[in-house]
Amino acid sequence: PHVAAVIPAAGRGVRLGPGAPKALRTLGGTPMLVHAVRAMAASRAVSLVVVVAPPDGADEVKSLLDAHALPGGTPGGSWGRTDFLVVPGGESRQESVRLGLEALPPGHDIVLVHDAARPLVPVDTVDAVIEAVRDGAPAVVPALPLADTVKQVEPAATPGEPEPVVATPDRALLRAVQTPQGFDRATLVRAHATVTDNVTDDASMVEQLGERVVAVPGHEEAFKVTRPLDMVLAEAVLARRRL
Ligand code: CTP
Ligand code: MG
Repeated sequence: PHVAAVIPAAGRGVRLGPGAPKALRTLGGTPMLVHAVRAMAASRAVSLVVVVAPPDGADEVKSLLDAHALPGGTPGGSWGRTDFLVVPGGESRQESVRLGLEALPPGHDIVLVHDAARPLVPVDTVDAVIEAVRDGAPAVVPALPLADTVKQVEPAATPGEPEPVVATPDRALLRAVQTPQGFDRATLVRAHATVTDNVTDDASMVEQLGERVVAVPGHEEAFKVTRPLDMVLAEAVLARRRL
């Protein structure tokens, strides 16, 4: 089956601090979104990338992708072997992903959902996710063990106030999940049509349907650029790759 990737890139990046929308900020001189699109196109299996742009930024994103196309691309349409589409996003990540799914043409039966904010995911991780969907899992997440011990707390009403600790879940049973998450297309579409709760990833919507979700090994370099320190790390990873 053909594989498409939906890249939600419509967020502001509030936690990164003031500036352009996060996906358009540069790493090594290249917009984060372009790195993310390249990371998906690096997989030979991925034939279409749907970029979900900031609501008022779809035209800018289209020009950006054309400007970074390799020879053999066609304006507004392809990067050689990989076609792309750009659609405007929504208020929440969930809505942005749904808008991307609605723009998917028929014929792509496996769908990856990948955060623009994870620009440096290695292609081996992308391929491992695709492989697990091909092997029959309706939903697949790349995941890593946690370095920190995790506590459940009673959240304080006022930020900065001490919070009572309620429990310490067994760390060995916990995983931090990344993207791309991979799905059987029909299952993901049904999840987005059915689940209305606020969620922070797509796989949890599939879990709510009662469908099987499996985790495969993630990668440290698939970390999400969220706060300013993550930009420092991302620049360092890129610099190391260029050595
Ligand atoms: N995203 C999106 N549409 C939204 C919100 C988020 O497409 N309305 C995307 C972001 O662009 C990002 C991914 O979802 O690629 C993960 O979200 P996050 O890291 O939270 O990014 P932001 O929402 O932009 O950051 P913040 O929460 O700090 O504002
Ligand atoms: Mg956010």
